[in-house]
Amino acid sequence: MELMEIISKRRSIRKYKPDPVAQEDIEYVLEAARLAPSWANTQCWHFIVVTDEEIKNVLAQQGMPFTNRAPVVIVCCADPEKPGAKGDIPNYLVDVGITMEHLILAATERGLGTCWIGGFHEGPIKEVLDVPDNLRVVAMTTLGYPNQDPEARGRKSLEEIVSYEKYGRSKK
Ligand SMILES: Cc1cc2nc3c(=O)[nH]c(=O)nc-3n(C[C@H](O)[C@H](O)[C@H](O)COP(=O)(O)O)c2cc1C
Repeated sequence: MELMEIISKRRSIRKYKPDPVAQEDIEYVLEAARLAPSWANTQCWHFIVVTDEEIKNVLAQQGMPFTNRAPVVIVCCADPEKPGAKGDIPNYLVDVGITMEHLILAATERGLGTCWIGGFHEGPIKEVLDVPDNLRVVAMTTLGYPNQDPEARGRKSLEEIVSYEKYGRSKK
């Protein structure tokens, strides 16, 4: 698939088939994540691949109920101190955004569904996963074969989100 086709086909998937995901596919998406750019190449991230049902249940209780219905959950932690916050932007959050999207698009290419989960309570998740104190749990995604085929969710038009030269100026 061409990149734009992969980007267009991706959906947040919240229903999964029970079929397991091959280790090779898990490593493929992790490799895509590994290759992501980051602030000064600091690569502040660490991924935890979860297939254990009990652990997934804890993740589901702290976040989204559908989390334990996917065969795999990948949790992305990050060290906020590595890229630091040069300027006003906490770059570890940016870095995690990029690496997670690499992972998610590679999963789409392999016919796997994902759903970024950002709404969760971090404390119990850190505890169940033994995440060191100095790391934050920033994001997780489910991973598995989709059991739904949602329509594309709407997006704003380019005119609504793009300015030229200065904010609010349209293309000449
Ligand atoms: C940073 C971030 C956090 C998100 N957190 C959640 C979440 O906690 N639960 C959930 O069901 N979906 C979550 N989503 C998925 C969005 O709801 C979804 O991307 C959006 O509705 C557009 O749908 P689409 O991904 O199918 O295009 C999150 C997405 C992003 C980028």
